[in-house]
Amino acid sequence: MSRLRLGVNIDHVATVRNARGEGYPDPVRAAEMALAAGADGITAHLREDRRHISDADIDALAVICRRRGRPLNFECAVTPEMEAIALAHRPHAACLVPERREEVTTEGGLDVVRGRNAIAPVVRRMADAGIRVSLFIDADDAQVQAAQAVGAQVVELHTGAYCQAVRERKPQAEALLKGLAAAAERAADLGLEVHAGHGIDYETVKPIAAIPQVAELNIGHFLIGEAIFIGLGPAIQRMRALMDEARVTRAA
Ligand code: PXP
Repeated sequence: MSRLRLGVNIDHVATVRNARGEGYPDPVRAAEMALAAGADGITAHLREDRRHISDADIDALAVICRRRGRPLNFECAVTPEMEAIALAHRPHAACLVPERREEVTTEGGLDVVRGRNAIAPVVRRMADAGIRVSLFIDADDAQVQAAQAVGAQVVELHTGAYCQAVRERKPQAEALLKGLAAAAERAADLGLEVHAGHGIDYETVKPIAAIPQVAELNIGHFLIGEAIFIGLGPAIQRMRALMDEARVTRAA
């Protein structure tokens, strides 16, 4: 099994900064620390309301990722404004997500089945600019097929429902994990690279990392929270170790 990559999402460093309207804590410094601690890449979501990451953060993150030769995964909604920003920066990857202003976080996957006419041209223009386009979708066969049909290279499976079910000790957790595994298998069969993210913590990372088709995890909120207690570097190193353990155990 190939080595699983870890993308660290630093949005919530910006959330804390913005709570006081100050210049600190700096998400760009967090990105530098994350890369030094073993993150393979940096993920940042530029929301339309700029509630955490700002345009200036994206400018700075693009520079440091390029300088260090590490990927920047630019998460954004499917809008002309975000497409223009992506095309101006040409990050390594863009992950297209649904966005509603009133949501606390990205609550569900992109509806590629219903939105395919709007999504397909955006995927094409970004791909033509050399950006690897990922679609953040629920673990649903129709969504996986639609992602392939619109020309995405990658799907990122939304792990939020599974992670929440585990945290709340709900019996449906096992079925949700099976659904993620089935969607990952289907996506890989269709030639898509498979990523996963949302809500992952030290407990849920291992079952998700053990899904063999998953090539990358994107993790933010838990790591930034854990950093308050043990520091960002150690939190990332522990997550990295759990990911590696899950892969070794699965391969054995
Ligand atoms: N992947 C995507 C597409 C997301 O929107 C988010 C949240 O911004 C994450 C991963 C990371 O989720 P979390 O912050 O819950 O780890």
